[in-house]
Amino acid sequence: MNTLCYYQNLIKKLTKQQDLTNEEFTALLTCEDRAVTDFLTQRARAVREKHYGKDVYIRGLIEFTNHCRNNCYYCGIRRGNDKAQRYRLTREEILSCCEQGYQLGFRTFVLQGGEDAYFTDKRLSELVFAIKNRFPDCAITLSIGEREKESYEAFFAAGAERFLLRHETADQAHYQSLHPAEMSFDHRMQCLNDLRTIGYQVGCGMMIGSPGQTPEHLLKDLRFLQDFQPEMVGIGPFIPQHDTPLAKYPAGTATLTVRLLAIIRLLLPKVLLPATTALGTIDSLGRQKGLLAGANVLMPNLSPTNVRKKYALYDNKICTGEEAAECIRCLTRQVDSTGYHITINRGDSIVFMERKK
Ligand code: 5AD
Ligand code: FES
Repeated sequence: MNTLCYYQNLIKKLTKQQDLTNEEFTALLTCEDRAVTDFLTQRARAVREKHYGKDVYIRGLIEFTNHCRNNCYYCGIRRGNDKAQRYRLTREEILSCCEQGYQLGFRTFVLQGGEDAYFTDKRLSELVFAIKNRFPDCAITLSIGEREKESYEAFFAAGAERFLLRHETADQAHYQSLHPAEMSFDHRMQCLNDLRTIGYQVGCGMMIGSPGQTPEHLLKDLRFLQDFQPEMVGIGPFIPQHDTPLAKYPAGTATLTVRLLAIIRLLLPKVLLPATTALGTIDSLGRQKGLLAGANVLMPNLSPTNVRKKYALYDNKICTGEEAAECIRCLTRQVDSTGYHITINRGDSIVFMERKK
């Protein structure tokens, strides 16, 4: 059997069984052959189209605070970065982002921020409640890091239905190498489990090509995804930010990120899979390549333009100058070029909706 045949068989097996042996996964993760990659992305696209047709779901991202109590070594808004210009949006500003987003066709708002103590459970619950009250046909996603279960319960009761918390890496030692000792891998996992128990649609995910990452780590990530069965998986390349301890490390590549998107699509056929801004930053065609490899979600920025550059998790982030309306026009063109189209709906996870029935 020639090499191409071997890999094609692996990909067919993964498509059919949503599983491979460790050796097989590692072979697929590390295979750089062009013909294999093409076959992999074609398969991923076919699976994506089987479940989601040509629809691309959009989520309006509102980066509402860049204050953060954490000190992750990779992140530009880490507490220790005294160059970061800190900001918080007011409730009115946030509601006005939603209003604009609603007019542009968004039916999901993602409130993303650093771990900011100003946003107490009470303040955040009130905010969620206010958005839900004003836009009852929209879904609210929180992406605000680690809190205790009671807090997550309060936000859920206030109307938040989805939560994004990337696990960053499923290998404990690798996790510790990317975060200071005060941050715990176990607590992050605890949070993901709590969110699931409460009833959120949960998104996790990892950076691709983060410093020290090996194929064994990626294999662990895949095993974790298989076990946890998240409704959404957010992955993007690591991109160094110049004022962080990991500034000098090389960025992850678009090629590896796209390969992971395709593998994840085959592993979790119905998962919601965004082509991220980080992927669009590392490669100007990154998001289109992601969409053509199984991704089915985009998360454009609705934050006011005067704060966009300040939410600098990594260097050279794209879309920091454009108004939301311009951004969606530009993205629509990009999506159209792939043969897919943006749809106006909440874009719930189909697995989650089936489970709820
Ligand atoms: N490069 C790429 N992604 C990053 N994130 C944070 N810092 C970086 C960086 N330097 C990602 C993390 C986090 C998400 C909000 O952004 O995965 O969970
Ligand atoms: Fe934002 Fe192109 S997608 S400007």
